[in-house]
Amino acid sequence: MLIRKAKKEDMKSIHKLDRESTEYHKKFDKDFYTISERWWNIKKYSQLKAIKSPTNLVLVAELEGKVVGYIWGYVETIMKNKMGKIQELIVTSKQRGKGIGTELIKDMLNFFKDRKCVISEIEVFVENLSTIQVYEKAGFRKRVCKMQLKLNKENA
Ligand SMILES: CC(C)(COP(=O)(O)OP(=O)(O)OC[C@H]1O[C@@H](n2cnc3c(N)ncnc32)[C@H](O)[C@@H]1OP(=O)(O)O)[C@@H](O)C(=O)NCCC(=O)NCCS
Repeated sequence: MLIRKAKKEDMKSIHKLDRESTEYHKKFDKDFYTISERWWNIKKYSQLKAIKSPTNLVLVAELEGKVVGYIWGYVETIMKNKMGKIQELIVTSKQRGKGIGTELIKDMLNFFKDRKCVISEIEVFVENLSTIQVYEKAGFRKRVCKMQLKLNKENA
């Protein structure tokens, strides 16, 4: 397994993984994941920008020449404190449980440490227990509770 920085040419594979992730997350919130083609295009554009940005890191995991997972993180500065945020993480279902997700998280945390981040953060659905376990194994702890109220399903 090879972990490397994502390139423009990986966008198709990344998009496929994003679609798989969306399907997976439907069981946690079917309204939130009613995504339009316009939204997908905005996401693709943001990822292309992230690939080139020095404050973002997009890594792909490659197995036998095929992209099987990816992670996207970025550094955010809030009142002079740097925070490393994990925006996306997905490993294709057939390749789960082989340590790929854990390796991607480790590499992202090293990127955040190199950039002097004081904390790393990830948002995950409370029902996504298997993923919470993966983050806990990497050292993350449940510290802040994010509360949400749905106001307008069409714009969610
Ligand atoms: C979260 C995710 C990226 C982890 O990737 P992964 O490569 O399976 O992670 P790892 O192999 O490092 O760890 C998986 C853990 O689940 C267990 N596991 C075993 N078989 C598994 C399987 N078929 N599927 C999932 N997990 C399995 C492993 O035992 C491992 O725990 P352990 O190290 O204590 O043994 C992956 O499960 C995923 O893509 N989930 C769906 C998308 C998602 O929720 N993304 C996060 C959004 S916040």
